[in-house]
Amino acid sequence: MAETKKLMRALAGETQAVPPVWMMRQAGRYLPEYRATRAKAGDFLSLCYTPELAAEVTLQPIRRYGFDAAILFADILLLPQALGADLWFAAGEGPRLSTITTPDELRALKPVDAIHETLAPVYETVGILSRELPSETALIGFAGAPWTVATYMIAGRGTPDQGPAHALKEADRATFEALLARITEGTVEYLSKQIEAGAEVVKLFDSWAGSLKGADFDRYAMEPAKQIIAALKERHPGIPVIAFPRGAGEKYVGFARATGADCVALDNSVPAEWAAEHVQVDGCVQGNLDPRHMVTGGQDLIDETRRIVRAFSKGPHIFNLGHGITPDADPDNVQLMLDTIRG
Ligand code: CP3
Repeated sequence: MAETKKLMRALAGETQAVPPVWMMRQAGRYLPEYRATRAKAGDFLSLCYTPELAAEVTLQPIRRYGFDAAILFADILLLPQALGADLWFAAGEGPRLSTITTPDELRALKPVDAIHETLAPVYETVGILSRELPSETALIGFAGAPWTVATYMIAGRGTPDQGPAHALKEADRATFEALLARITEGTVEYLSKQIEAGAEVVKLFDSWAGSLKGADFDRYAMEPAKQIIAALKERHPGIPVIAFPRGAGEKYVGFARATGADCVALDNSVPAEWAAEHVQVDGCVQGNLDPRHMVTGGQDLIDETRRIVRAFSKGPHIFNLGHGITPDADPDNVQLMLDTIRG
């Protein structure tokens, strides 16, 4: 049967007059219905691990806006937790984890086969979604890329410059690389199970790729992505993969070819016209409206949305923001963006 989902068609290389659209963090605190369900769950991790509620918040932005894709509601830090790290969210402060910086701490992590015990509810959420989503809506599974996940496991929290991870890389490269290898292996298992449960596309979030320079970028952003993509495609022939090496800059050029990704997600620091010429030549791109327009709205939002659609109109494109929508965004601005794209 010919593929009818707009997102899947873009990933297969089709140029469409109206691009498919979804938003990073589309299920989130800017939506009153999300805040209500989160309050019912009690806290963020309980929301992630309660399949009915996680499926409910995934569906909320689909019902409200009719996006072309739904992204599984979960978090990139569930994998470290499944590997045995302690994880908690300090109110108003973001994630906290127990740290892994020594060979002993690395050895104390659970073997990769043990992750499914913790992550089973996530696969159940995927199963519910694949049954309940409208037939035109694609279901995206995801994981963090190894470098980004490692930055949180090493520092025990989010860091502005990923200093602790860079420090471990310089001080004890063997431990650093062994940690990356373990996360890489776990990510293949985690994403494989999401695909078996019904995810039709998977996305790798390398939110901190931009702090890797030169050969480090090739070794710790490109190489793990390449390994994960090759392993997934061997097990699940034809599964499309979106890679998001945020902050890659010039390194966006050739990233899809080097890793085998079907689509490269662009942050909003790269001009769409430049990316059309240098990145979209290799296939589908996703992006890249600045999320601040979801706060500020108005004619600027309309002009920027039109500019991005026009810049990418000659090749396969998935419209998205350059990063996640923020809690202070106005839900009406999301509708304005959609009306502008869809006419
Ligand atoms: O709608 C979606 O995009 C799907 C769900 C999703 C979440 N996190 C839910 C979430 C996805 C794809 C992620 C990915 C994620 N998580 C990334 C990579 C993307 C990026 O933003 O760069 C990272 C780095 C994380 C780790 C993480 N989770 C942080 C740093 C935080 C705290 C910051 C914040 O926004 O509060 C989270 C919490 C988180 N993950 C929230 C949501 C909706 C907010 C939690 C809440 O409801 O209080």
